[in-house]
Amino acid sequence: MSLKNMNHDIPPDSALPLLKRVLIIGSGGRENSLAWAFSRFSEVEQVYVCPGNGGTEEHPLCLRLDIDELNSSEIIKASKTLSIDLIVIGGEKPLAAGLADKLRKAGLIVFGPGKEGAQLEASKQWAKELMVEANIPTAKFWTAKNKAEALAILAKIKMPLVVKADGLASGKGVTVCDSLKETEFAINEAFEGKFGEAGTKLVLEECLQGPEVSIFAISDGKSLKIMPAAQDHKRLLEGDKGPNTGGMGAYAPALILNKEKMKEIEKTILQPTLQTLIKRKIDFRGVIYAGLMLTNEGPKVIEYNCRFGDPECQALMPLMGEEIAKVIQSAALGALEKSPSLIYKDLKSVCLIAASSGYPEKPRKGDSISIELDLNKKDLPIQIFHSGTQINREGELVTSGGRVISIVAQGSSYKEAFRLAYNAIKQVNFKGIYYRHDIGNQIRKDV
Ligand code: AMP
Ligand code: GLY
Repeated sequence: MSLKNMNHDIPPDSALPLLKRVLIIGSGGRENSLAWAFSRFSEVEQVYVCPGNGGTEEHPLCLRLDIDELNSSEIIKASKTLSIDLIVIGGEKPLAAGLADKLRKAGLIVFGPGKEGAQLEASKQWAKELMVEANIPTAKFWTAKNKAEALAILAKIKMPLVVKADGLASGKGVTVCDSLKETEFAINEAFEGKFGEAGTKLVLEECLQGPEVSIFAISDGKSLKIMPAAQDHKRLLEGDKGPNTGGMGAYAPALILNKEKMKEIEKTILQPTLQTLIKRKIDFRGVIYAGLMLTNEGPKVIEYNCRFGDPECQALMPLMGEEIAKVIQSAALGALEKSPSLIYKDLKSVCLIAASSGYPEKPRKGDSISIELDLNKKDLPIQIFHSGTQINREGELVTSGGRVISIVAQGSSYKEAFRLAYNAIKQVNFKGIYYRHDIGNQIRKDV
């Protein structure tokens, strides 16, 4: 069966089917915010999240299913029993493992690329080659299959490089080196197995300079809908120092990109990416996430991901009108042209991550969490999304991962949104709680 035929398109003259029962795959803050966003759409009766987390059932209509995100046969079984209308795959691991292909083959409607499209994120070399083919601006690069090759490249280039494991490494496979010595060290470490399988091949890149911005384009395999840009903070410590993490906070829209710049990015980066996927016969139904660096020579792609960013998704979802649910459904059906237009609220949104001590290397787990903020009682533009939380045997909410809670707030100005978010996060507590006080330092004057 060709990839094209595995998808379940609707006839051109039919309207989008009703969207009553949604299944979100994943357990993080991103999936928690997606479940919340779907639950707000008027047609939706139930949102299941598998495996979800300790906060899934805090949102109306949301239920946990105790199924691992890689367990395709159980996911298929549950989806059929529950008459699921749409499955949204949140994270890169199940996407890279080909979960979307398996679910589509079983007749289910899925948002998220198949294994081949997920290479955009799962192999940095594959992504780089696609960019070269499409003439998409990106850092110069070299690939190396072993240490000798990598060191020979370094000896020839004689410049500190960015050392990247080719495969998925949970955001930890990249070392930005300041010196030749550091580059050599990072190469040695990678080939000694620091990134496991992911590091058996390396991509070495020239080091670019400039602010970073995340762009999310929803693709139905033929066309794109582009969401407002977001900026996140990958480093653990204030001042953007310390080790790389999955992300310690984010805000949107990122005003660093005006309409004109967004148009340029669409033309020079996003459309060529989609067209090259089409040329390769990849029917990409999901998110093309371009991580960009805005260099003196213009925007360049630092990396692609094949899903929403976490925590950017938590900041973005509250800015969306409830029709985002229908837009995602139409992309899964290969029919973005049938979706309503995306309406963005004219607000600024901020996400702060409360993390466990020891994150990202060895996060503390099992501590009880208290959240004093009662959003039901107050009509505040604040959301609490859970990431690494679970309900233990005693029925208590405890930490179960590095990033624990996302606090998200909106305001008519960034000042207001940050004020609300930083006040709210003070009402979240667990042993060793850590959060950065300078999220949004790109645009805040007070840090
Ligand atoms: P990645 O996982 O590829 O997004 O890389 C993680 C982080 O490393 C990025 O967000 C950048 O801050 C940094 N980085 C990656 N590639 C480069 C590059 N070529 N030049 C400078 N910084 C980079
Ligand atoms: N926030 C970055 C990511 O999701 O990869």
